Amino acid sequence: MSLKEQIDKEMIPQHVAVIMDGNGRWAKSRGKNRLSGHQEGAKTVKSTIKACREIGVKYLTVYAFSTENLNRPQQEVSGLMQLLVKSIDRELDELSNAGVRVKVIGEVDKLPKNVQKKLQFAIDKTSGNTDLTFIISLSYSGRWDILNAVKSIMSDTKQNLIDPNNFDYQDFERYLSTADVPDPELLIRTSGEERISNFLLYQLAYSEFYFTDVFWPDFNEEEFFKAIYHYQNRERRFGKTSEQLKN
Ligand code: FPP
Repeated sequence: MSLKEQIDKEMIPQHVAVIMDGNGRWAKSRGKNRLSGHQEGAKTVKSTIKACREIGVKYLTVYAFSTENLNRPQQEVSGLMQLLVKSIDRELDELSNAGVRVKVIGEVDKLPKNVQKKLQFAIDKTSGNTDLTFIISLSYSGRWDILNAVKSIMSDTKQNLIDPNNFDYQDFERYLSTADVPDPELLIRTSGEERISNFLLYQLAYSEFYFTDVFWPDFNEEEFFKAIYHYQNRERRFGKTSEQLKN
């Protein structure tokens, strides 16, 4: 039986988040430049979207570009931006026809204007789709997300739009960039690193983490299904005991 067939269709995570790591090392190990690693990585993004659709994952969030990544050499940053624009040009029609909605989180205004425009075009074109929400984190960091929420809350409090004595987690979550998106049940990080790297710090509170040594360009559908299979064989206790869960 293939791994895909072994996956329990009743226990598919709604939301999978991915730290796509190892493009640079993948390229280096082949004597290629870093950008060719990112180009291969973009192909993996496509196959991961396909795999999500095949098994019914409803939200896929990828860490494409952290706030800190903006400090990489100018040539790599602009190469990544071009790759993003080209990927949208090449794939948008297919994504749109496949029922994928594109969403972007992060400090988008820090990105070049042409990239911002292209992203907005993709968001608008796919806004009515409901099969899979594909969330691209760009110039994103978890601390920025939380700080940004706090700033908006302070401003709304000043305008008497919020009652601080009657403000709970759900109210707070509406101020995060992921408002209306359920928390990821599963976080995947490739390339052997076992860090959260300022990704969805608040949203990953109860997520299962899956780490693999495979570099992102090699993380094919089979590897993705392996991650889902591992997730399904873990016990999510949310602070309770095993016995409590069984009863
Ligand atoms: C991490 O590998 C990867 C990135 C910083 C960029 C990820 C971007 C893509 C896969 C491009 C396309 C994205 C979309 C959404 C189409 P690394 O460079 O840190 O690898 P290393 O740790 O081996 O150096």
